[in-house]
Amino acid sequence: MVETSQKAAVLGWPIQHSRSPLIHNYWLKTYGIVGSYEKIAVDPKNFETFIRSMPDLGFIGANLTIPHKEAIFALADEVDHVASTIGAANTIWWDKGKLHATNTDVTGFMTNLKRSAPDWDKHNGCVAVIGAGGAARGIVYGLLQAGVEEVRIFNRTRERGIELSHRFDVRVKVEDWDNRNQRLADCHTLVNTTSLGMEGNPPLDIDLTQLGQDAVVVDIVYSPLKTPLLAQARKMDLVTVDGLGMLLHQAAPGFTKWFGRRPGITADLRALVVSDLTS
Ligand code: ATR
Repeated sequence: MVETSQKAAVLGWPIQHSRSPLIHNYWLKTYGIVGSYEKIAVDPKNFETFIRSMPDLGFIGANLTIPHKEAIFALADEVDHVASTIGAANTIWWDKGKLHATNTDVTGFMTNLKRSAPDWDKHNGCVAVIGAGGAARGIVYGLLQAGVEEVRIFNRTRERGIELSHRFDVRVKVEDWDNRNQRLADCHTLVNTTSLGMEGNPPLDIDLTQLGQDAVVVDIVYSPLKTPLLAQARKMDLVTVDGLGMLLHQAAPGFTKWFGRRPGITADLRALVVSDLTS
């Protein structure tokens, strides 16, 4: 019997830096699945036409990255609760002719946090979230779903933090950016959701000394893997969680949906992506 090749892709504009093909093609090869995963630059002007043509081109689904995570809402037949709550979808698939959309960044973030820091939720208190952009929306949603008592938002533009808090419940509080060092005192987890600390960007200027001694510090930036924020946390013997795990964990649900196999997040896969990031 000849197996039919299943095709998936990541769509973005630009797209050249995406590591998603490396991850999905590693899994395809590892599990001997006849299929492919490519990266395709799709100009926002052509987004609708391209999405409509995908089933005829043999695609069973796709990941979406900047700037397509919101545009898909107008085209999808079914948007699930998580994607509609946070206002962004990164994974799509066709089922019986219907286009479905979800967001796997939330589960990617939470799964990675639980695996990398199994004790992170043993403490009462708050989680400090730095930033209030698209990434923060998903992360705040995941934290609230996990039952945290308080999410304390620190964003350079306070109004944007307030806007974000209005999407959620009273557990989300907004603080002044200038108070980010002092107002960490009763927090046991801190998450950087901004691009500060990424290669080519300035570091996140923050002093972690007020955090609890057993605090967990999470950065969603993965290039470099050891950001200045994580370096500061490690020096203080705090538990650190880097951004690569989230990238790997957000990829897994899409792969499962398209190719019918739940992939492993293994040390080999991580090493492969690390070597690509540092080459
Ligand atoms: P994403 O979807 O990746 O979260 P975004 O929506 O553009 O991207 O959000 C970027 C976040 O990084 C925002 O919280 C932004 O703060 P503002 O809302 O004040 O713009 C934050 N950010 C980016 N550059 C920053 C800087 N130099 N200092 C402080 N915060 C910064």
